[in-house]
Amino acid sequence: MTRQILVTSALPYANGHIHLGHLVEYIQTDIFVRFQRMRGHKVGFMCADDTHGTAIMIRAEKEGTTPEKMIAEMSESHQRDFAAFGISFDHYGSTNSDANRAVGEGIWQKLLDQDLVAEKAVPRLFDNQKQMFLADRFVKGTCPKCQTPDQYGDACEKCGTAYSATELIDPKSVFTDTTPELKESQQFFVKLEPMQEMLTEWTQNSGALQTEVANYLLGYFLGKPLQDWDVSRPAPYFGFEIPNQPGNYWYVWFDAPCGYIASTVEWCAKTGDNADNWWRNENTEIVHFLGKDITYFHTLFWPAMLHAAGYNKPKRVHIHGFLQINGEKMSKSRGTFINASRYLELLDPDWLRYYYASKLSNKIDDLDFHSEEFVGKVNSDLVGRVVNLASRSAKFVATTGLSKQYPDDGGLFAKAADMSDTIAAAYESCDYREAMRLIMTCADAANEYVDQKTPWTLRKDPDKAQELQDVCTVVLNLFHQIAVYLTPVLPTLAKKTAALLGDDITSWSQASTPLVGRDIAKFQHMMTRVEAAKVDEMFTPEEVAPSSPTLEKEPLAAEITIDEFQKIDLRVAEILAANEVPEARKLLQLTLGLGGDVTRNVFAGIKGAYEPDKLVGRLVVMVANLKPRKMKFGMSEGMVAAAGTDGEVYLLSPDSGAVPGQRLH
Ligand code: 2FM
Ligand code: ZN
Repeated sequence: MTRQILVTSALPYANGHIHLGHLVEYIQTDIFVRFQRMRGHKVGFMCADDTHGTAIMIRAEKEGTTPEKMIAEMSESHQRDFAAFGISFDHYGSTNSDANRAVGEGIWQKLLDQDLVAEKAVPRLFDNQKQMFLADRFVKGTCPKCQTPDQYGDACEKCGTAYSATELIDPKSVFTDTTPELKESQQFFVKLEPMQEMLTEWTQNSGALQTEVANYLLGYFLGKPLQDWDVSRPAPYFGFEIPNQPGNYWYVWFDAPCGYIASTVEWCAKTGDNADNWWRNENTEIVHFLGKDITYFHTLFWPAMLHAAGYNKPKRVHIHGFLQINGEKMSKSRGTFINASRYLELLDPDWLRYYYASKLSNKIDDLDFHSEEFVGKVNSDLVGRVVNLASRSAKFVATTGLSKQYPDDGGLFAKAADMSDTIAAAYESCDYREAMRLIMTCADAANEYVDQKTPWTLRKDPDKAQELQDVCTVVLNLFHQIAVYLTPVLPTLAKKTAALLGDDITSWSQASTPLVGRDIAKFQHMMTRVEAAKVDEMFTPEEVAPSSPTLEKEPLAAEITIDEFQKIDLRVAEILAANEVPEARKLLQLTLGLGGDVTRNVFAGIKGAYEPDKLVGRLVVMVANLKPRKMKFGMSEGMVAAAGTDGEVYLLSPDSGAVPGQRLH
């Protein structure tokens, strides 16, 4: 029976690049998808960039760009990395899309219709100086759990605890470094308690979850009344404004999973299908892959949203552990935080696909990338046990092709064909480690056969030409069978195998029918061995040249000598008067005092940035020996020092104690 399966990987945040940790999930999902396609099922593989929230605003600001520009660039970079690792999404969207807004609004309306939205006044941190509420990452303070200082208001990077910003010890606004005060704010919540029974039933009895996940949810959440879920954030926030609630935005985790549906909508628009055929059709299996850190979003909140809006709930939520590197947490300072692009500079993506496959089970344990093991597995399993089968036999039948009839191989092919269902079951349950183990037993049997038959000696005896052709026909068929079984993991090897034997690998059943009586192409190199030195190089921190987005906008000027600098006479000056110049768009007329009764008249381009009245009395820095310039409105006798890019203006202020007329040294 043909199944219809909609598969997703978690949507990567648009505030960072894809790294080896992410790839555990995308490779794991892609293997599942490719396997299902080979089984003849109808599959949609959906993903998108997760673009909203404060982290993205902060990174954009740091880089001197806008969130919109940053997410566009990041999406390109993510998709480039995914393509290089052979991740075969059917559609890659963005949560900042019209389709996603529409999905979010649809779900929101259904929640409202069923009285599942609560509006409550809650205390939130408020920055008095900026006059605004501070969402999650706009507050930093000490973790209430492990006391690590300088943590954001949503979760601790050290101990991983999630909390709300109000729980931080000694919170400070990231904008003004002042202590925010608690102020009531109207917020929106999704009521989960009315769906508690449904969620308990779905998590415990539907078979959608791994047992350890179901138990965790029962133990930590479902054993007591579910609390309302806080889904709104006050402006400023990069996201979608809640319909009819100006100044209130959906929290990023509300519209992020909607991206799964929105991607399907966009995909269906391209293919002429209808997304309801996937999301509102009971015959579709929705399968989500994700990491253990985001379990409750996908097993409580998301199914609640889906249920309320009349969508299918997931048939399966497959959760995996984290990646460790050589037994330790990935770390930037240890040089083990490796981006996909860095890996690709040095190593072959298929190696990682195989290595991860050989370690992934259907449990949620962490997975360790161990350098020596990586080198060993690739070199001994893939090159030594698999690819060698072809390289040791193909050249001997380059001119004759394969035998017309499949020769007697002592039952080897049939035995491996009999394993088809067992291997398929291992893929189906995401126990790829078991699948790889089984496939390698086929490779071992094939290698024993080669060692026994020694085609390289048969070749020396012209009377044994037929036997040589038969032996090589067997070996190449056993190799082909293994390549078919490995196709979900190693699509590139599958392509090279197809080129050699003239038979595209598209279906699982190809592992059960031997190829006979056909020409074969000239043997092309299939896979190189890993050099351990390259793996070490990958983990050696790169020297990164320091960079500054501000300097990029306005590079440093040519060097000058100290004597040249000293020609410029910078003085502390007091603004004695500030007046509008009505005809000038940017100028204010300033009277600057240099002590006593010495004054200067200066036209400064600061109109709009400062109110004239508020300037009087403040100290500034002026260039006091600039040759007076005649301007349309009068003489300008100096310049006021100010900083700023892109039209912004910030006057410089001397510290208190400085007096007008003092020179800057
Ligand atoms: O944890 C994360 O990386 C999130 N960006 C995953 C979102 S998955 C989905 F729900 F959108
Ligand atoms: Zn902590």
